[in-house]
Amino acid sequence: MSTRAVSGAVAAKVVAWQQVHGRNSLAWQNTQDPYRVWLSEIMLQQTQVATVLGYFDRFLTAMPTVQHLAAASLDEVLGLWSGLGYYSRARNLHRCAQAVVDLHGGVFPRSAEILVTLPGIGRSTAAAISSLCFGERVAILDANVKRVVTRVTGFEGDLAQAAQERLLWEAATDLLPAAKVAPRTMARYTQGMMDLGAAVCLPKKPACLLCPLNGDCRAHAKGDPERYPVRTRKLKRSSQSIWLLWAQAPDGAVWLAPRPTPGVWAGLQCFPLFESEAALRSALAPGHQAALQAEPTFVHVLTHKDLHLHPWRLEWPAGADLGALPGRWVGAAQWPALGLPAPIRKLLERG
Ligand code: ADE
Repeated sequence: MSTRAVSGAVAAKVVAWQQVHGRNSLAWQNTQDPYRVWLSEIMLQQTQVATVLGYFDRFLTAMPTVQHLAAASLDEVLGLWSGLGYYSRARNLHRCAQAVVDLHGGVFPRSAEILVTLPGIGRSTAAAISSLCFGERVAILDANVKRVVTRVTGFEGDLAQAAQERLLWEAATDLLPAAKVAPRTMARYTQGMMDLGAAVCLPKKPACLLCPLNGDCRAHAKGDPERYPVRTRKLKRSSQSIWLLWAQAPDGAVWLAPRPTPGVWAGLQCFPLFESEAALRSALAPGHQAALQAEPTFVHVLTHKDLHLHPWRLEWPAGADLGALPGRWVGAAQWPALGLPAPIRKLLERG
């Protein structure tokens, strides 16, 4: 069945609903500055609005323009990102700022087609930036909007298949406002689809009674909106055990080294990591092994993986290097500003 059958007035309803019920005063709204919109979209990709708000303001204060960001060191950027997780976003953010400065004269491109060529900007993010800032008539399709589009159109395709994903982009494009839409209306439509997905068209128990599209929605008509989107392949989770050497000097300095790229916590400053307790012990001279103290084990959950973390503490005399282990002593006044993996920060803050 054509998705066009349900479109017609859908876009107008989304726009009217957004104006009254959507979010209109977030820190990255009421601006057409692509730097701010881009930064917020990257932060919002895997992080809740409430968390992003604080980070967004702090980041902008430190890096008020794309030129500041491009000229900053990666360590500074990772430090500002610290705690937000998914650090490849921060590394791409930095590379993207440099590309905007080096390849585009410090001015963000205005079309999604060119934005998508920049590091860390996928098709949906490119469309969000160009539609929110410049009113370009292009569809977004993040996880929230996929729910709205699959439900409204009754899209039965299995999104585990790339061909179905492509068809869903077409369905999302069919729902857009008419070709002659005003830029501010287009921006409101994009924001409205995001807001519907975030606040109304929820994964479980969607608030269909409050939805402006309930009269157009095929999933609602069939009575089973939760069945959409259809996706057969489930994410396969794995687990990994990691031993951490938490070496601390009497003055509070800790031994940290940057994690290699690629890999877990790439580029972040971290304790030395080991695959087993034996490997951790054998990195130390026998005299120091006796001073090791096990801390409680805990689980840190990543998207695809549960990390079972086994911290071992070691009091170490000030000044001396930690055997042959790579890294350096970082003072108690310095480590809080570094890009640290969240569980390492938690351990250090607990002390
Ligand atoms: N999630 C992704 N983009 C967003 C936006 N612009 N506003 C609110 N939530 C979002």
